[in-house]
Amino acid sequence: MHWLIHDYREDDLAAVVHLIDTTAGLGQESVFSLAECIGALTSRQPAVVAVHQGEPIGAALATVAGERAWVMRIAIAPGWRGRGLASALLRELERRLVACRVRRVAYVLPEEELLGEGLHNAGYTRRPAAAYFEKDEPPAGAAGGLLEELGGRLLPGDLWAKVAGMETEKNLIERRVVLPLAEPERAARHGVRPPRAIALFGPPGTGKTTFARAIASRLGWPFVELLPSRLADEGNLAAALRDAFARIGRLERALVFIDEVEEIAPVRTEGARGGMHGVTNELLKLIPGFREGEERLLVCATNSIRSLDPAFLRPGRFDYLIPIGTPDAAARAAIWSRYAAGRADVDLDALVGASELFTPADIEHAARVAAQAAFERDLVAPDGTPAGDSAPDGTPADGTGGGASGDDGASTADYLAAIAQARPTVTPAMIEEFGADITSHARV
Ligand SMILES: Nc1ncnc2c1ncn2[C@@H]1O[C@H](COP(=O)(O)OP(=O)(O)OP(=O)(O)O)[C@@H](O)[C@H]1O
Ligand SMILES: [Mg+2]
Repeated sequence: MHWLIHDYREDDLAAVVHLIDTTAGLGQESVFSLAECIGALTSRQPAVVAVHQGEPIGAALATVAGERAWVMRIAIAPGWRGRGLASALLRELERRLVACRVRRVAYVLPEEELLGEGLHNAGYTRRPAAAYFEKDEPPAGAAGGLLEELGGRLLPGDLWAKVAGMETEKNLIERRVVLPLAEPERAARHGVRPPRAIALFGPPGTGKTTFARAIASRLGWPFVELLPSRLADEGNLAAALRDAFARIGRLERALVFIDEVEEIAPVRTEGARGGMHGVTNELLKLIPGFREGEERLLVCATNSIRSLDPAFLRPGRFDYLIPIGTPDAAARAAIWSRYAAGRADVDLDALVGASELFTPADIEHAARVAAQAAFERDLVAPDGTPAGDSAPDGTPADGTGGGASGDDGASTADYLAAIAQARPTVTPAMIEEFGADITSHARV
């Protein structure tokens, strides 16, 4: 064929919007508005794009609701109509939908048109008795405003996929947390109650915040972070928390994140932290109400689970207490390969071996240092010389040094130098303490 069809990517947005917009008057309009189509694209609903010589010439997009998907739009550039492109796009789109466990695909066309016959040929049946009704609901301004007031927002849809490595934690969180929330009916059939509150604990920089954001992204729920320091500005922290939870209760769905939760729910017998008793008590009272709602999840993160009030963490309040530790060798390899993807000759095994006890944050930092070294070397390289001929210590970088572009980016030596300079956040003593915390606190 003369075209290639790929999954929709973020940088296709302008071209696809243009296609949808400019073909609307050509008998290709849809019952879905342009804004709804953009909403589906940006929230990562299934969509495919056809390209000819680098130019987007067609797109098909759908929105999934449980086992049913609605084809929202098939847009074909004027010169490409009647050449089978719509059918090809639809076939590709259907493959994606089936992969999302869709069992029925519906396509509502405004009226009988060219595509109608094509749909027949593609195995679609026209439901003769069906009539399509539509009602315009008043804009949900209140809920939107509420989310904004709470500082909440919808995150990009791909954050879960961007969590590199950490397969053990990812797997656990997916099975215990994400899937029961994403498929509550199926969970209920097996007597599984979806979790309403979880705590993530582990040393600094291991990815607790990253996981919380990734869960929200994966569920497609807004992410609302409650910042005690900001709430305290309103005067009375306990009252501000009560108010925030009341507002959250009015949201349709939300993932609520409290970082460094030990600051607001410390062991109450410590006594020293004056004023926090009331706040801890308030939070203890708020959690049961929060748990009654559906489509909501409280995620608390802490570096120091042992300094949390035990009553706060007990099973009726928190469903799971999940440890997030330093990445093992496989996870480090996955994280390093994210950063070193530009150069095929980087010796990942060497980086993995040299970065034991490194957290994802440490790896990210070392990768930045190495990239900066390569960049600075490039700046001082004489005109026309391929950059990156030698590492900072003067040893030749691995790789051939032949093609200029192949040498772009940090080399193995750059990375190893950055690793040698770095001071890992996590010490063996912290690992030991974390191991003890897992024994005494983890609930998975
Ligand atoms: N699995 C991962 N793959 C790639 N990068 C990661 C991963 N996990 C974390 N990072 C990166 O490491 C940095 C630290 O992660 P994050 O802030 O989630 O850690 P944290 O456990 O919340 O730390 P803290 O305890 O200090 O709050 C972030 O910049 C994040 O992008
Ligand atoms: Mg964090």
